[in-house]
Parts: sequence; structure tokens; C-alpha cells
Amino acid sequence: MTAPRPETPVSVSKLGYVEFQTHDLDRLADYYTRVLDFVEVDRTADEVYLTPSFDHHAVVLRRGEHKPRTSVGYEIFEDLADAERRLGDAGYAVERRSDIAPGMPDVLVLAEPMTGTDIHLFDQQPRSGVGPDDSTLRPTKLGHVASFTPELAPMQDFYQSLLGFKWSDTIGDFFVFLRCNSDHHAANFMASKSFSGMHHIAYEMRDLNHLQTMLDHLAHEDYRLEWGPGRHGAGHNIFTYHKDPDGNTIELFTQLDIIHDEAKGYFEPRPWHTDFPQYPKTWEVDLVAVNSWGPINPALIEH
Ligand SMILES: [Fe+2]
Repeated sequence: MTAPRPETPVSVSKLGYVEFQTHDLDRLADYYTRVLDFVEVDRTADEVYLTPSFDHHAVVLRRGEHKPRTSVGYEIFEDLADAERRLGDAGYAVERRSDIAPGMPDVLVLAEPMTGTDIHLFDQQPRSGVGPDDSTLRPTKLGHVASFTPELAPMQDFYQSLLGFKWSDTIGDFFVFLRCNSDHHAANFMASKSFSGMHHIAYEMRDLNHLQTMLDHLAHEDYRLEWGPGRHGAGHNIFTYHKDPDGNTIELFTQLDIIHDEAKGYFEPRPWHTDFPQYPKTWEVDLVAVNSWGPINPALIEH
């Protein structure tokens, strides 16, 4: 049975924020501010709002049982009421809420299929007041969030048919990469019968020097890498992975593929590419797809 779909997809244009539940709010907030150099922009008794950049928040921490990725917020580039009408006409339960976060009076909430994660759609966040030159350490932005899904196809269809994402790449038959702007992926999903929840969340660094600066800072703070540096095939980002104090996997990356020509699907050519021109494709499961520089951490590709 084909899932219902709106007459035209919603125009998601940007990954805005990801919410985490944590049993130790202060410890995780301390990691974000002291280790990753995010700015705490707002706090209540049970919530902390954090940002690396212009937007009010990219990370929300909420007191509760440990659960990463309880909600994901996406900015849309269209009228919120029209998006609400089209999703409603297609039969989706969409709630319009005014109490989601400080300065966000109008947010659509709908459920992601199979995972139950809340998807938030909003017009624009208020500015954080954080400027681009405030720090040489802080990541530039929230890049993507990767999750497990019981099935790949219905999840991919939800993101493409409802939320207007485009297909960028797939590895084997189990890992899909989807984009909502020119960045190669903002959402990626790994099919699994064994695992559920978030796979990792990724923050962008400006370049290799910026990444190195952060890695030396992590070392000073006794955070050690679990994988990387390496270069992924799909997306071609240079990656590193470590764990936050809750055990969530954190990727710091740079040089993610940019897709300039949306109509033709061209990637901006780079010397480390192997296809010229390069189009979205299904990759064979091998070193080239996973880490062209060599080592593999089996725990991070298990599914
Ligand atoms: Fe990633």
C-alpha cells in the first residue's frame, strides 16, 4: 500500500535543531559548552538551548530518560499554513503549536513514520546573537543527523514525498543519504532489524585546520576518537567520531559534497571523487564507500 502524499511536498530548506533527552542535564550541557564550545542561549528547569551559530538553537537538551533525537526541527521555505493544509489534505495528523521553544510561536508537529520521532516544521528561528567571529573553536553548524529505521523505503518516501528531500546516495541496500539543500545530506537512515534510535549527529567544521584545533581540544578534555580521521565515500566528508558523556555518537566533519546543479544532480567536482561527472548512485559496500583512507570501525557500520 502506498502511503498518502500531498499534492506537492513541503519545501524543507534546512536542518534546524535536534532534541536530546538526558538523565544528566548539567553534564551534557557542560559537554556542549566547554568541550564543543556551543553557546547556551536559554535555560529552564528542565531544558537547555544551545547554538553554534546565528540560529537561536541547534541542540535542545531536555531532562528525562536517556533518549537522543526525540525531535528534529526543519526550517521550511514556504507559508506554514499552506504546508499544514497540504499535509492535512493528504491525511497526516499535523498539530500546530505555540509552546515548542522560546521565540518560536508557530511550529507544525507531525510524527516520523516507524520511529515516532516528532518532526517540527517552522518558518525561521530567532537569531541567537552569536556572531561568526566569536570563536575559533566552535563548529560552524549542525550538519546532519543519522538514524536507524526498521525499513528504508517508506522512510525515504516520507522524506522525499512529504518533506521535499532529494536522494543523494545509497550504500548497499541499507544506508540512504538525503538532502534538503545543496549539502549532500541533512538526514541519513540506516536500515536495521537490530538497532533503533539515533546513529550519530554531525557538526560541521570549516576546514581541516579547524577540525584539528577541535581534536586537540577534545584530547585536552580527555575525549578520544572512536573512528577517524577518515574520508567517507558517500558524501566524501572527512570524518571523526567520538562519544558525548551520554554515549551518543558525535561526528565532526569537513569537506562534505556540495551539489550545485539540482536539476542534473551534479556534485561540485573534487580531486578525491572517482566519478566525473558524479551523480547520486548506489554504492557497493566496500572501503571506498565507507572510508577510502582505510580503517573501519565495525561498531559504527553495524546494522
Ligand atoms: Fe555522518
